[in-house]
Amino acid sequence: MNILVTGVAGFIGSNFVYYYLSKYPDRTIIGVDNLAYAGNLNNLSNLSNEQKKHFLFIKADITKKEQIRTIFKKHEIDCVINIAAETHVDRSIRDPQVFLKTNILGTHVLLETAKKSWYSSGIWQNGSKFLQISTDEVYGSLGMTGLFSETTALDPHSPYSASKASADLIVKAYHDTYGMPINITRCSNNFGPYQFPEKLIPLLINNALNHKKIPVYGDGRQIRDWLYVEDHCRAIDLVFEMVFSGEIFNIGGNNEIENIEIIKKVLKLLNYATHDSKINENLIAHVKDRPGHDHRYAIDATKITSTLGWKHQVPFEKGLEKTVIWYLENRSWLESVISSEYMHFNECNYKI
Ligand code: NAD
Ligand code: TYD
Repeated sequence: MNILVTGVAGFIGSNFVYYYLSKYPDRTIIGVDNLAYAGNLNNLSNLSNEQKKHFLFIKADITKKEQIRTIFKKHEIDCVINIAAETHVDRSIRDPQVFLKTNILGTHVLLETAKKSWYSSGIWQNGSKFLQISTDEVYGSLGMTGLFSETTALDPHSPYSASKASADLIVKAYHDTYGMPINITRCSNNFGPYQFPEKLIPLLINNALNHKKIPVYGDGRQIRDWLYVEDHCRAIDLVFEMVFSGEIFNIGGNNEIENIEIIKKVLKLLNYATHDSKINENLIAHVKDRPGHDHRYAIDATKITSTLGWKHQVPFEKGLEKTVIWYLENRSWLESVISSEYMHFNECNYKI
């Protein structure tokens, strides 16, 4: 198997590389990333020497046909796990174009290149496979009841989720039209090491450690279903190994929490770990709500549990503790990823 994994220098991509090469020490990953602002090669610096022999990094942009074609040819790629994307909802509200380019056109470049290399005379090369990593945000927003299942209608609200939904539909179209062997996974909010500090949990850790206010959008009563990133990686692996093509799988932690509650929990953990009395709930600052803010995401993971035996394994409180400890032990990582562009984006994004 010559596996191309995209987005390897980002949060889920780097966690997936660690997970996969630990589980399958004899396999090799060809990892691609264009090292956009959230991509950081340092995220992969903890691979062991043995794992480094099984990992080849190529700086490339999934929207660039020639770059992708060359990689497919040179490395005889027969499987793709497409993790690369523009991922931050607030940035998509500010500047949607790059989201459409990477998430829609980039996915199409990968699909078309894969089709050209894997499909001939009406037959798909044996063992070829395209796995698209998507999000529960494609389903839109839930009220106080109900869950997203794989048959829930797509109803994205942000430019980010609309671009991911579009990509899913194009991936599905390659299956329905050409019979391409594809699967799609749709996961809830992840947390864990190496997450760029623009997303809620690492942002709030970073702000609290620097005694800066923590912006809570609106009343903070919005609900997300949080999943520790390693559990997501385990699910991706199971779906990738599975033989049935054309299937979509939802992945969730069965763990709904209001934003304000998660913020309070993290502040408590940080206060306990650092003995810093300035880290407390006084740092919380309610700010103007995100436009089009989805109120609640919650996943019905029955399908992946009954078909593939997947269930989240890391209890939420344990995962949160591990995450807080990781950021405390890696403050230099946090400092290294915060650039002046980051500061500018986050400071003009909300008003305290
Ligand atoms: P991330 O922003 O941390 O990482 C994305 C990576 O993709 C970065 O390394 C970036 O450099 C790379 N990238 C961006 N544009 C590229 C391009 N044109 N060519 C090559 N590489 C490019 O995001 P993440 O949280 O790791 O998310 C990864 C995937 O998982 C995304 O597809 C996202 O939609 C999906 N997802 C994320 C979550 C979550 O909670 N983080 C939940 C569900 C689904
Ligand atoms: P985020 O981590 O951006 O993920 P997503 O929007 O993809 O779910 O945000 C998680 C929740 O936290 C979401 O409801 C928005 C909210 N939020 C804040 O209240 N303040 C913040 O500074 C951020 C980044 C998010």
